[in-house]
Amino acid sequence: MSAILECRELTKSFGGVDAVADLSFTVARGNIHSIIGPNGAGKTTLINLLTGIYTPTAGSILLSDHDTRGLAPYKLAQRGLGRTFQNLQICMNMSAVENVMVGLHLRLNRGFLAALLRLKSVRAGDRDCRARAIELMRFTGLENQIDQHPSEMSYGALKRLEIARALAAEPELLFLDEPAAGLNANETHAIGALIREVAASGVTVVLVEHDMKLVMDVSDDVLVLNYGRKLAQGTPHAIQNDPEVISAYLGGA
Ligand SMILES: Nc1ncnc2c1ncn2[C@@H]1O[C@H](COP(=O)(O)OP(=O)(O)OP(=O)(O)O)[C@@H](O)[C@H]1O
Ligand SMILES: [Mg+2]
Repeated sequence: MSAILECRELTKSFGGVDAVADLSFTVARGNIHSIIGPNGAGKTTLINLLTGIYTPTAGSILLSDHDTRGLAPYKLAQRGLGRTFQNLQICMNMSAVENVMVGLHLRLNRGFLAALLRLKSVRAGDRDCRARAIELMRFTGLENQIDQHPSEMSYGALKRLEIARALAAEPELLFLDEPAAGLNANETHAIGALIREVAASGVTVVLVEHDMKLVMDVSDDVLVLNYGRKLAQGTPHAIQNDPEVISAYLGGA
């Protein structure tokens, strides 16, 4: 089967700096793929390229063999790309469940006029939408915080809420940018279990993470970036034993 994602000689420059440089790699369908590298290695820039936030300076990105050039983030989302953010992007003037419902709108087949007129079918749709959002909150371990205000939730819970919202759009490929940042060891372990469950449900996961234990525990495949370039790609075992990776990154961690 062809790769779900392929980058060919991808470069993104900011002024004179290549945040991502001549990067080629593939992501196989299914499983959990991690992207690691020191601060400033280009991980978030890469996610922003892959999700259409940034336009590549050079190179191409293929999503299931289709070039994504020129497609806006919402188009890519409709084609099955989901993400969470390194810096939380939770709407603070909505309840927890409403934040998840925002993620559902991408999949809802609802006419604008019907919504405006609040037709019966739309009201029924709202109920379905809330029910589905609650289901996702259960899946992510937030069943006791359905109507909570985000300001009353722990940081760890908000990280899960972002995952629930991303899953609401039913992504085929989900990017998680540092889901364990700021979490304690127990919360990190629990996030690892959740990531495994997400992957087991058929979603291909791309994980950007600094917590090496989490990365090595959950990943099937690890891509190592250094100064925007690929240093290595392989199984956790191969990466942990790669002399270049050890000297450039893991050795200093
Ligand atoms: N919008 C931008 N404008 C200018 N430079 C940028 C921009 N975004 C990122 N950079 C630079 O590109 C490089 C890669 O940054 P990026 O945020 O992608 O790294 P990262 O691997 O996600 O780091 P971290 O682990 O700290 O999150 C850095 O040198 C950064 O300063
Ligand atoms: Mg980053």
